[in-house]
Amino acid sequence: MDQATHLRQMIEIKSQNIIKQKTDRAVEAGLKAKVPRVIAVASGKGGVGKTNIVVNLAIAFRRIGNRVLIFDADLGLANIDIIFGLNPKCNIENMIKGEKELSQVIVKGPEGVDIIPASSGVQELTQLTEGQKMNLLNEFDMLNRMYDLLLVDTGAGVSSNVIYFNLAAEERMIVVTPEPTSVTDAYALIKILYFKYGIKNFYLLLNMVNDEKEAKSVYSKFSKVVDRFMGGISIDYAGFIPRDKFLVEAVSRRKPVMRAYPDAPSCKSFKLLADYLSKKEKTEQIDGNIKFFWKRLIGGETDADNKR
Ligand SMILES: Nc1ncnc2c1ncn2[C@@H]1O[C@H](COP(=O)(O)OP(=O)(O)OP(=O)(O)O)[C@@H](O)[C@H]1O
Ligand SMILES: [Mg+2]
Repeated sequence: MDQATHLRQMIEIKSQNIIKQKTDRAVEAGLKAKVPRVIAVASGKGGVGKTNIVVNLAIAFRRIGNRVLIFDADLGLANIDIIFGLNPKCNIENMIKGEKELSQVIVKGPEGVDIIPASSGVQELTQLTEGQKMNLLNEFDMLNRMYDLLLVDTGAGVSSNVIYFNLAAEERMIVVTPEPTSVTDAYALIKILYFKYGIKNFYLLLNMVNDEKEAKSVYSKFSKVVDRFMGGISIDYAGFIPRDKFLVEAVSRRKPVMRAYPDAPSCKSFKLLADYLSKKEKTEQIDGNIKFFWKRLIGGETDADNKR
């Protein structure tokens, strides 16, 4: 490690300690600290835009004053670090093995968005020994104080990993495109989460649509089918992201569209999405959602705990 990197890390650790001390003091003084949220972004079908949505939404949230951490749990093709143009040196696997600490695994992205990069180690998170779990949870504890929002890129499909991450998060946003296979696969994912685990609340985000009319028409058909076959479920329309050539161009430049083309049509939608989700913030959330996310995830408390 060169001297500059070391210095940056030292400063970072120091500033994290300051935030921790401030938060501890606030809690001691009886003040209610801001409660962090965890939102999982998922899809039935792959390639519908989850990773781009997570990255650009993170930036939109940052711009309205949130401290954001991305957990890249997607082992798909284009990972968060590629879209952000980063080259992470270590990942969560090093943490599980006890070779690195959490602060060394977190990568600094543009505009102060922090990232836990993807790795095959993610799969092992659900199969740890008790000792490993305790160590990890202690480390993850500090995330609760450091961030207002954890966005999880869960990957596509209905594999056990994807299901775990969706169960562990307090809120989940399903991404669909107007393509029929994307819609039926999203339906299949929601069906499993509902019938098998009793999950009843979802946001639906339409991506790659021509306009709002198309987005609303897909949403309306989707929610009608869900209402008919899964009564009591709530699918909130979270809005839409238009099909945008600037987003495609930004991906090829390994930059988030919010950075490369801030005036692009999709950027307006990412801002609106962050505003929408901010308004949806529950006033009474369980204290320490980020902590509970990890606890549920690696502690395997995915069934009874999640009947909500
Ligand atoms: N709003 C959009 N407008 C135009 N193209 C888009 C849009 N969103 C995504 N794309 C295209 O879809 C591609 C896949 O996006 P992305 O990698 O974010 O999907 P994903 O759901 O994360 O995929 P995977 O399931 O493989 O992880 C992008 O590289 C881009 O070309
Ligand atoms: Mg992806």
